[in-house]
Amino acid sequence: MINMQRLASFFGLEGKSAVVTGSGQGIGRAIATLLADAGASVVVADLNTETAASVAASINTAGGKATSTFLDVSDLASIDQLVAFTQAAYGGIDIWVNNAGIFPKMPFTEVTPALWDKVEAVNMRGAFFCMQAAVKDMKRHEKGGRIVNLSSVASRNVTIYDQPHYSATKAGVSAMTRAAAAEFAADNILVNGICPGGVGTEGAASSQTVMPRGPIMGAGRMPLNRVATPDEIAAAVLYLVGPAGAYVTGHEIVVDGGFLVS
Ligand SMILES: NC(=O)c1ccc[n+]([C@@H]2O[C@H](COP(=O)([O-])OP(=O)(O)OC[C@H]3O[C@@H](n4cnc5c(N)ncnc54)[C@H](O)[C@@H]3O)[C@@H](O)[C@H]2O)c1
Repeated sequence: MINMQRLASFFGLEGKSAVVTGSGQGIGRAIATLLADAGASVVVADLNTETAASVAASINTAGGKATSTFLDVSDLASIDQLVAFTQAAYGGIDIWVNNAGIFPKMPFTEVTPALWDKVEAVNMRGAFFCMQAAVKDMKRHEKGGRIVNLSSVASRNVTIYDQPHYSATKAGVSAMTRAAAAEFAADNILVNGICPGGVGTEGAASSQTVMPRGPIMGAGRMPLNRVATPDEIAAAVLYLVGPAGAYVTGHEIVVDGGFLVS
């Protein structure tokens, strides 16, 4: 018989608060929902307040605990507001997942400084200042914490044409993950990352339609021969933020159906 109590002792998040950036849809929505399923009180934070509210509502309807708020990770004042919102709602931050990201495609030779700056401001600078804000709150309450950054296999290998600017930001996210892990281990703040391969999300679907050339990472290049579901990425996050991940810091879990080894 399955020992649910023992299982919960590894994967339960009862009494924890969690912020998930960009959780109005896609991978972020799956993460917010799974962390709430595990017992966490979740803040669904997104640029799109309608989708964020709807994700929080469906978590609450299912018996979980969630609230939603506006967030633009490229705006430091907005990050500060999110921290204040979470402190008011749940007392502080135990878990922070940097998921918000954009991946507009553009041929290498046509990337403009404006596009570079936009992608960098969301994916890399946004993740950095969110980490900074999360760490400050975790140090304030002195209970430690968990941070998970969504990087990508694109940080390590070429996955799709016309995304050099995106790949650069994700390599930066991976480097920041390692730096923060070393820096804050003494505060019991564990910082890890996830490198998804292809994931079937709203964002990925709309980006495929404007793809000028075919993907390098097509189904045929993936040993498991399909893209991931958002839930399969969320499951790896749950491992990292729960008791099961208590001795893991500074690493990334690659969830790519075998792409990187193919
Ligand atoms: N889908 C994939 O194949 C894939 C693969 C590897 C990595 N990733 C990474 O996973 C993360 C989520 O990807 P997804 O496919 O779910 O994307 P998505 O486009 O489906 O969802 C992204 C969410 O982030 C929100 N967002 C965008 N900019 C924001 C900002 N400035 N502030 C706050 N919220 C913002 C959007 O409103 C949206 O709700 C991204 O960081 C992405 O780079 C995705």
